[in-house]
Amino acid sequence: AKTHNHDFVVQETKVKKLCETHNSITVNGQFPGPTLEVNNGDTLVIHVTNKARYNVTIHWHGVRQMTTAWADGPEFITQCPIRPGGSYTYRFTISGQEGTLWWHAHSSWVRATVYGAIIIHPQEGYSYPFPKPHSESLITLGEWWDANPIDVIREATRTGAAPNVSDAYTINGQPGDLYKCSNQDTVKVPVNSGETSLIRVINAALNQQLFFTIANHKLTVVGADASYVKPFTTKVLMLGPGQTTDVLVKADQPTARYYIAARAYASAQGAPFDNTTTTAILEYKTATSKPIMPSLPAYNDTATATAFTTSFKSLRKPLVPTELIIIFSSRWDSESTSAHQKLVLETPIRGTKVYKLKYGSRVQIVLQGTNIFTAENHPIHLHGYDFYILAEGFGNFNPKTDTAKFNLEDPPLRNTVSLPVKGWAVIRFVADNPGTWIMHCHLDVHIGWGLAMVFVVEDGPGPLQKLEQPPPDLPVC
Ligand code: C2O
Repeated sequence: AKTHNHDFVVQETKVKKLCETHNSITVNGQFPGPTLEVNNGDTLVIHVTNKARYNVTIHWHGVRQMTTAWADGPEFITQCPIRPGGSYTYRFTISGQEGTLWWHAHSSWVRATVYGAIIIHPQEGYSYPFPKPHSESLITLGEWWDANPIDVIREATRTGAAPNVSDAYTINGQPGDLYKCSNQDTVKVPVNSGETSLIRVINAALNQQLFFTIANHKLTVVGADASYVKPFTTKVLMLGPGQTTDVLVKADQPTARYYIAARAYASAQGAPFDNTTTTAILEYKTATSKPIMPSLPAYNDTATATAFTTSFKSLRKPLVPTELIIIFSSRWDSESTSAHQKLVLETPIRGTKVYKLKYGSRVQIVLQGTNIFTAENHPIHLHGYDFYILAEGFGNFNPKTDTAKFNLEDPPLRNTVSLPVKGWAVIRFVADNPGTWIMHCHLDVHIGWGLAMVFVVEDGPGPLQKLEQPPPDLPVC
């Protein structure tokens, strides 16, 4: 296995989008930031220097960080922020994960522009569990604000109002040619007729779940959140912020140019949403035609989103934990709560919710979406773990009848679950990674509103079951 050393300089950089130039926070002047490409088993050493005006930390989203919680990155959870002028070196090893993850700032709304991909190839000497694609490409979906995103969230916090929505969705930082002044920079994905491409799709948007499609082409899903899945074919993907999906796309259509497109799925129902579409172009060699436009589901097409999210199965039969420990909920009907289930989150309060877990606990969490303000989806992300998604459904989870829906054979393994609107999802994991791990909604606007909590997993008895000592340069408060 190799060790990869990188320098990340967080700095302000002039970035031009939608006819205007703004000072944006970037890593090494790049937007999106640098792509990290490794093999499973490799070690990353990333020296981050903060030359911006804001506090910053970097989170390696989905990397399990076994015993290296100090490298996880969420501000005020595993470290204090890297102050302007400060620096910190993140060290961690990728173990047992293959596919696509990403990294992003984990401090205020800095991640609006501070993010990039992590591509994890199979361990050296191994290959994909599917035929080797002829080419690979990366599609990172994001959002762009004309205003400074930090000012947007500061203003919203001051007034208590919902923050402004973004001004564009983006693919690899580019809004695409349906937006003003964006024609020139539209991302092109070249393909050769008859060949198959592996396309890695990341949703790095700040506050928006997104539908994704490619005109006239079938998408064969082979992985998600750096775990392989049983391949299945679909026309449309739906990704919550934080989620990744790897697809094989065969260039089996007439030589032409086809739009790759993404747009919003179910922001708060009834609340204003952005129905604009970001595009890139799948370009057959020699094709110059006007791109063919796909049709995308409507912003509130929950049926299509659910059909997609419930298609995932893991590749191998997993070890399934059996102990039921926790209910996580933002509100719960007392009639459907039985004795062994404990409430963790209720109606929002000011404070910190911490749940302690013994090393090796087999944890089941029922995530219950509620309707206190508006009916929304919540992409719930757990740090330090991958979890099995056993089932999801609408309405209130009923432990008497809904347990029959659990997939105990081949449930997908993920780090972010898209909790259906006004619905529930049940996840399980084994608490085998000591440290302090935040679980939160990956719509960043909801973190500030309180949709976050922390698990503290105790050390285990064995030598490789203990949290390492904090590095000497860990930023202090
Ligand atoms: Cu993708 Cu807590 O983060």
